Amino acid sequence: MENVQRFMYDTLGCLWKRGADFLGTKYSVMGGAMSWLSERNLVSAISNNGGFGVLACGSMMPDQLKEEILATRSMTNMPFGVNLVAMHPMLRELVATCQDCNVSHVVLAAGLPKRELIEQLKSSNIKLMCFAPSLAIARKLIKMGVDSLIIEGMEAGGHIGPVSTCVLAQEILPNIDAVPVFVAGGIGRGEAIVQYLHMGAAGCQLGTRFVCAKESVAHNNFKQVFIRSNSRDAVASVQLDDEFQVVPVRAIANNATKEFMAVQKKTIEMYRNRELTKEEAQLSIERFWVGALKRAVIDGDIENGSLMAGQSVGFVNKEQTAEEILEELVLQALNYLARFKEVA
Ligand SMILES: Cc1cc2nc3c(=O)[nH]c(=O)nc-3n(C[C@H](O)[C@H](O)[C@H](O)COP(=O)(O)O)c2cc1C
Repeated sequence: MENVQRFMYDTLGCLWKRGADFLGTKYSVMGGAMSWLSERNLVSAISNNGGFGVLACGSMMPDQLKEEILATRSMTNMPFGVNLVAMHPMLRELVATCQDCNVSHVVLAAGLPKRELIEQLKSSNIKLMCFAPSLAIARKLIKMGVDSLIIEGMEAGGHIGPVSTCVLAQEILPNIDAVPVFVAGGIGRGEAIVQYLHMGAAGCQLGTRFVCAKESVAHNNFKQVFIRSNSRDAVASVQLDDEFQVVPVRAIANNATKEFMAVQKKTIEMYRNRELTKEEAQLSIERFWVGALKRAVIDGDIENGSLMAGQSVGFVNKEQTAEEILEELVLQALNYLARFKEVA
């Protein structure tokens, strides 16, 4: 029996070796950055237990980011990454902060990197990970010198693209070998991780599964809503009119999602009645969600805040430590591999 267990462990180790080597971790499992949640406590807990925590910088200023990086480092000796948002007005300064603090990996979200940014990172040997929403963009990013890709499907929590994880994986994994590719979106169990590894992924990134970690600073109301919710409760935001863009975000439906529909309807009516210019109307729609994630995560206002969550919220059934979550995922992966061994 012990031999079988060792065999499974080695098999999983081989399957995700490229990713684990790239991240410098025991498991090739990333705890995806989540604004307001992925701070020192959760990030260090994930990294201390074999995964790869990623700090969410969100709209932080460089001095705040520095404080968070140093605080995280005081809680873990293991590697962790920093998530930066491409459209942040102080991106260069934030990268300089990462350089000063000897950050090993930067995960760039919400846009493509500029050449100067890549050069700035390379000059300090910081590994750059970027999101690839299509095969063409994946190839372009590799040509630009990006060190690793994340592909994230629309099952994920937070800002999403139009394509499912399953389809993106088939589009990209068989065609990209130059850099390690991590898969994200809708992953709630270890079996799914093995499936993507078998398809060629170097590892996986999970966000929603870590929201209810004991170490997560999320308000208890926020955690309880996750524990109560099913996969189908996590829905993508709806755009009412072609003329007024709504950034697609997946979140658990609540009063705020209903209110957002009413605000869109009213704003579009006002525009049609010439009471608002097009710019004013678009701005009023965009302003609706400002501050909404913090309202829910930190203040616990689960009716009027944003409950960003992926469809894998259906697999969140209780509060667990980061260690328990990671061990559960690994055990599921090992048991799944054991089934193949029985067949062989
Ligand atoms: C509450 C929440 C906040 C998030 N915030 C960010 C963010 O600030 N930056 C980012 O790149 N991704 C963000 N994400 C996406 C996660 O990093 C991760 O890629 C995603 O959750 C993976 O899909 P899953 O939710 O199905 O596990 C967020 C996700 C959630 C659920």
